[in-house]
Amino acid sequence: MSVDLGQLRQEFSKRFDKQAVWGASAPGRVNLIGEHIDYNGGWVLPAAINRGTTIIAGPSRSERFSIQSLSFEQGFEWEDGELPEGPVEPAWANYFVGAYDQMVQRGYKIPPIEVLIATDIPIASGLSSSAAILVAIYTLFEAILRIQIPGPEKALWSQAAEHAERLRIRSGIMDQFISANAISGHALKLNCGTLDFKPVPLDPEKVSILIIHSTVARELVISAYNQRRLECEEGLKLLNEKSGREEEWLVGYSLEEFETLSDGMDETLKKRARHVISEQARVERFEEAFSKDLFDEGGRLLAESHISLRDDYEVSCQELDAIQEIASGLEGVYGCRMTGAGFGGCAVSLVQPDAVNGVATRIEEDFEKRMGKRPWTLISPATEGARKVL
Ligand code: GLA
Repeated sequence: MSVDLGQLRQEFSKRFDKQAVWGASAPGRVNLIGEHIDYNGGWVLPAAINRGTTIIAGPSRSERFSIQSLSFEQGFEWEDGELPEGPVEPAWANYFVGAYDQMVQRGYKIPPIEVLIATDIPIASGLSSSAAILVAIYTLFEAILRIQIPGPEKALWSQAAEHAERLRIRSGIMDQFISANAISGHALKLNCGTLDFKPVPLDPEKVSILIIHSTVARELVISAYNQRRLECEEGLKLLNEKSGREEEWLVGYSLEEFETLSDGMDETLKKRARHVISEQARVERFEEAFSKDLFDEGGRLLAESHISLRDDYEVSCQELDAIQEIASGLEGVYGCRMTGAGFGGCAVSLVQPDAVNGVATRIEEDFEKRMGKRPWTLISPATEGARKVL
């Protein structure tokens, strides 16, 4: 992660007239394959990236909490025991107080503290700045209270904070889980129904992860995201009615079963369910291909995933499609697809390491020629999950 800890500590001393004594960092993420699968209880394959959020803190000299961020001018303060209910202003502060609420609800007492937050994850880029800030906050609380919150719990508590009334975001568990539990040099194949996971090696000598921003901020995504979730729930209900089974998740049905059972199903629901069930199969095939160094096969699966997200799940956009098309035509690229919730945000490409710098520049140039805007690109190793930094 590249937030400069020395500079952040200096800034903390300037703002609060004392040294920071606790600190924590948590990374953003990129999902290699298994998109819109986490809230359907299936397998996803994310990796943590070299961009993250760092939070440092010191004890308050009064009964007042004070939280500030380098990314936003306005901070937030409250007197111990007098935190208002419901969303607070500025909006970003709800991440901190939302995580704080979860600790209080679980019986922990956080003493009044002063806090400074910095991040180098571009906000609304689809690289999980939300999960990173939440997981970093819990890791900070671990340092302050001298406790250990197991990684999977940290992910669940982060998700609980997002779902609660201050934030009201119905996210799945993938982003928080990888930010809390990532292992350097690996992606995690995570079962979002059971939270079992398996590290999948990503040897940087064999494959590079290239992230390309679509130039479109992922802002209008919440209502469409929630709508997709409802469509999946509806699709599952119909398949269960028809089969007489009581599957908890859409991924409980195989593609063959789905083909027979979906006869006569509403076209939109059918497309949504087909994406989920076929994507699940692609995660399995991708992992198998990668375990045998069959990177071309893995790359083809990325392309199939993109097409399914574009045509069946309908969460891509012109810019992401353009990136996918440009990247797929370049020498040294195994595959490319949109990643994350969609409607903007980023694409991910797996590329031969000796070609990756050239590929990044070509995508930037060709995209600019075609779309009139230049995207930024990021080459990232698979990094470790959250950790204390002070
Ligand atoms: C967002 C959500 C995740 C996941 C992805 C789509 O990033 O936060 O939980 O659902 O979209 O795969």
